[in-house]
Formats: sequence, C-alpha cells, structure tokens
Amino acid sequence: MEPKERIYLDYAATSWPKPQTVIDAMMDSVTLMAGSPGRGTHGMSLQAGRVMNKARLTLSKLLGFGNPNDVAFAQNATMALNLAIKGLLQPGDHVITTMLEHNSVRRPLEFLKRTQGIEVDYVPVTMSGRINMEAVKKLFRAHTKLVIATHSSNLLGCILPVEELAQLAHEHGALMLVDGAQSVGNLPLHVERMGIDMLAFPGHKGLLGPQGTGGLYIHPEVQLEPQMHGGTGSQSEEPEQPNIRPDRYEAGTPNVPGIAGMAAGAEAILNIGVEQIYKHEWSLTQTIVENLQKLSGVKLLGPALGEPRTGIVSFILENQDPAQTAFQLDRKYGIAVRAGYHCTPLGHSQSQTTETGAVRVSVGYSTQEHEVETLIRAVAELSRG
Ligand SMILES: Cc1ncc(COP(=O)(O)O)c(C=O)c1O
Repeated sequence: MEPKERIYLDYAATSWPKPQTVIDAMMDSVTLMAGSPGRGTHGMSLQAGRVMNKARLTLSKLLGFGNPNDVAFAQNATMALNLAIKGLLQPGDHVITTMLEHNSVRRPLEFLKRTQGIEVDYVPVTMSGRINMEAVKKLFRAHTKLVIATHSSNLLGCILPVEELAQLAHEHGALMLVDGAQSVGNLPLHVERMGIDMLAFPGHKGLLGPQGTGGLYIHPEVQLEPQMHGGTGSQSEEPEQPNIRPDRYEAGTPNVPGIAGMAAGAEAILNIGVEQIYKHEWSLTQTIVENLQKLSGVKLLGPALGEPRTGIVSFILENQDPAQTAFQLDRKYGIAVRAGYHCTPLGHSQSQTTETGAVRVSVGYSTQEHEVETLIRAVAELSRG
C-alpha cells in the first residue's frame, strides 16, 4: 500500500520545501530582470545588479562580515572549496585538516598532493566532534599554510571546534578555512568574531535556496588565485582578471535567479532567527536519539543524547543493509532519508562504518514533531524484522 504522507528527512542533502519567498524571488528574477548584472545600463540589467548587491548584504548580516563584497558566489560548496584550496595553496605547502571532511575537501587536497607535492595531515575527531588540540599543535610546521575543518560532519552531525582551530592556525601563521555546508543557516556563525578566514557554503541546504548556488567568504587580506577567468563587466580592456572584489572571483554571467532565491532564503533565516532554527532541529534530533537508542539492534552514530549537534542522526540496523532500510522507509512509510556512503570515506573509517555505510536522517527548519514520531515508529518496526 502507498504511504499516505510524504515525509522529507534528507535536509543534509538539500533543503525542501523551499519557502514561498524563495520561489517568488526566483520567479521575479526570471520574469522581470534581464541583461547581465554589472554589464548593462538599462533598467532590467541594473535591477539584476541590485538583486546581487542585496544578496551580498543579506549574507554579510547572516554570516558576520563587514564588507558585502567579500563574498564570491559559486555554484555550490564544492566550487567554493576548490577556489579556496586551489587558489591559496602552492607547491610545498602543508595543510592540517580532519578525518571528517567531505570529499569536496579531501579530493582537491589529494589532487594537489599528487600534482604539486603539498603535504596533508588528517586529524581524528571523536563521535562528539572533539579534537585533541595538543596533538594538532605538534603538527604545525614552518610551511603550514592552511587549517581546514568542516563545521559540522555530514555523517555524524557533530560540531567541530572551528574557533579553537582558527586560533591555533593564527598562532602558527596559517589561515583557517571552514566548510560550512552543514552549518550555514543551521548554526549561529560570525566569521569575523570566530576568526574564520574563508567560509565555503552551499545555497541549497541550510540557506533554503535553490540548487546551483553557494559562495565563499574571503577575508579582505586573503588573496586567492582565481580558478576561472573571463568577463566581469569591469576593466574590460585589461588582459588579466581585475583585482577588485567580487569581480576577481566571479567570471561569467552569474546565476541571478538562483542568487535571488538564495538571498530570499537567507532573509527568511534572519527573520526566523538562526538560534531558533538550531534549537528546533536540536530538539527533534534529541527525540530521535532518545527513542532509537532504546531499540535493540540499532547502532547510533554521532554525539550522545544531550550533546550539541546539527540536524543529522545516522544509524545502522543490525543485519540489514542501510540501502534496504532507506528503501523500506521510503516505500512503506513515505519517509525520504539517505543511505550508503556519505562522501566522507575517512569519516566512515572513524565511525567504523566503512563496510556498511549508514542510514542518515536529517531534519530541517520545517520538520514537524509528528514526522519524527512516524520515523521512530517505522524504525522500531523495521528493527523487529
Ligand atoms: C560537509 C559537506 N561539505 C561539502 C558538501 C558539498 O556541497 P555541494 O554539494 O553544495 O557542493 C557537502 C554536501 O553534502 C557536505 O555535506
């Protein structure tokens, strides 16, 4: 029998549903604006430029930076991370990062290791997100250029001590790059107060915008080599990419409808309050953890009950492939979750799930209490076989 209700618990992949204001902003952009922003002088092109500027301003308020031009838009967090990593590192540089990184950090690093001889240390992180800082201190070398950490693990939901890592990085003359893919829009963040030199984020997850959007905050004193070269509508007579922000890092016609949607999502978050969103998601995860940990045959990953975490809870049912669990949750109960490997092979080895992968449930701003209760009942039934 087809389930009556559809329950979406895959917010960590992409948020859904999008607020109506996001949809309206995108529709307005497509129907009312034309011309490339920053390129034309007619009214519709100027309007598109104003939308872009407002988006930068809204993000600067949400993420805590003074100059709205210090954000470069990108197509997703992956592109933003590639710009940060490949734009900064040079042959021979050393990087300290964690074992909970997503492949969007690990793969560019491994690529540079192979092609440019950069060196990388991956530090272990506990299920609760703790890192042995004394061990990290010992890893710094004269040529350590960058520390990279995900703010929250996309497998475990734990929150990493990015402020402490930033402080250590600065004490040793290195910069701090944070992967905000699971934290932006879900966790209070202030890049200037937290000492974050670069913050990569997607627009389609916690920011509630559409897919194909994201960005990189870049501290005003950090210089990156652009990874994309082309038209910007500025200094067009020069052969080189202009040295002004954000043009330096934004070649080509931007995704104005997408950016309009992402900005409307950021605005919605400012209106609700990110602390409020965090509390809502945390409380739902506590209900899930409290109930699933009572079930025999369920192995939970990530922080213990009561500890801080974002809206992610991963688990495995004994004697059942996570893909099978996710399939049954979808077909029998109408619950969308993600299963398998979560683009973090070292994270799986840390949590001893390399052989199995895991089922990942992730809640969001609009998840209701009764939806997680349905999930808990469904997992209880499946765990009984
Ligand atoms: C921790 C983390 N980093 C990076 C990414 C990549 O984000 P995107 O798909 O927007 O490039 C993800 C996506 O799931 C993620 O969870």
